[in-house]
Amino acid sequence: MKLTMQLGSRSYDIILKSGCLANLYQFANVANRKVFILTDSGVPEQYAQTVLAQCPNGMVYTVPQGEASKSLKVYGQVLQAMLEFNMTRKDLLVAVGGGVVGDLGGFCAASYMRGIDFVNCPTTTLSQIDSSIGGKTAIDLGETKNIVGAFWQPKVVLVDFDTLATLPRRHFVNGLAEAIKAGLIADPELFALFECEHPEENIERIIYRSLRVKKNVVENDEHEQGQRACLNFGHTIGHGIEAVKGVRGRRTNGLFHGECVALGMLPMIEDKSLVRRTRAIYRTLGLPTRTGVDKNKVLSYMQHDKKSAGSTITVIKVPGLGCWRADKIPMTELPALLGIKENED
Ligand SMILES: NC(=O)c1ccc[n+]([C@@H]2O[C@H](COP(=O)([O-])OP(=O)(O)OC[C@H]3O[C@@H](n4cnc5c(N)ncnc54)[C@H](O)[C@@H]3O)[C@@H](O)[C@H]2O)c1
Ligand SMILES: [Zn+2]
Repeated sequence: MKLTMQLGSRSYDIILKSGCLANLYQFANVANRKVFILTDSGVPEQYAQTVLAQCPNGMVYTVPQGEASKSLKVYGQVLQAMLEFNMTRKDLLVAVGGGVVGDLGGFCAASYMRGIDFVNCPTTTLSQIDSSIGGKTAIDLGETKNIVGAFWQPKVVLVDFDTLATLPRRHFVNGLAEAIKAGLIADPELFALFECEHPEENIERIIYRSLRVKKNVVENDEHEQGQRACLNFGHTIGHGIEAVKGVRGRRTNGLFHGECVALGMLPMIEDKSLVRRTRAIYRTLGLPTRTGVDKNKVLSYMQHDKKSAGSTITVIKVPGLGCWRADKIPMTELPALLGIKENED
């Protein structure tokens, strides 16, 4: 299967095929230039090695696994290693891993010598379903996620389904939350795949349909001037939950990104029966249905979030399956959305 992101001179193919990692050389020039392969310590080594084997002049650089690698420190270390490898503007960076490696690698490629070619090889459900396409690259500044980055589109994206075989179950399910998101905002048939079938058996169709939703949105609004905001469905509250209870630094027992987004979507679905259907899917998959966090802490984060400072906040709501609406609401309405009653403080 193949999708093409149509962005004029920045267009690229998204290849979806079991085993395609071994065929990277067919889709990108890896023979006549230096290839810097970025991966992390949790990604089975064999995937980066499969890419390396196709590159006469390649090297693998491994960062520690986890969100903490999306830091200025690790970013600096990667750039330093690229410089020591004597990379020029004509060379290539290939990311092999999940969203962490993709976001970090994409930003290194975007900024090294003002931008070099970038190829993304996502190996988690989250990155195959969502983060590997669209061109958003970023690192974090302390506790503030994705605050330093660039729009930098890859030259090609290789979605090798086989890599998911080694992904721990909780990470597998975590990424599916972004597919449920795509179904809720734009694709009832994708949503239905979760209601009547086993997602493991349909993972290829789920990934394909999710990427197609995102591709259509990004093609119409690459730099998030309007429509692309729909992809933030579930993320406004989700980021608040992530800040309070996400896996971060030494807090390793918290919730993953997709799990927070799953929780963040529920209050934004207006049709009560659709909320029930969504909850039922979460239960079947093993996604959380309740935050178990102090809602006032989430509220406080959202009120002080540097990215949404102001007296109003724009949230994405889903009035019914397959459609969405952007609502600009006063910050004073947030407590009610979070289900905080007025007499609570
Ligand atoms: N750029 C975007 O548009 C965008 C969109 C959504 C999320 N994100 C970002 O993505 C990140 C989360 O991505 P993620 O969920 O992929 O997390 P991740 O990259 O941390 O991967 C999860 C874990 O799985 C391991 N792993 C990766 N592939 C594996 C495999 N095939 N087998 C076994 N283990 C494997 C990793 O080492 C890591 O420990 C966050 O930083 C988030 O901000 C970016
Ligand atoms: Zn997300």
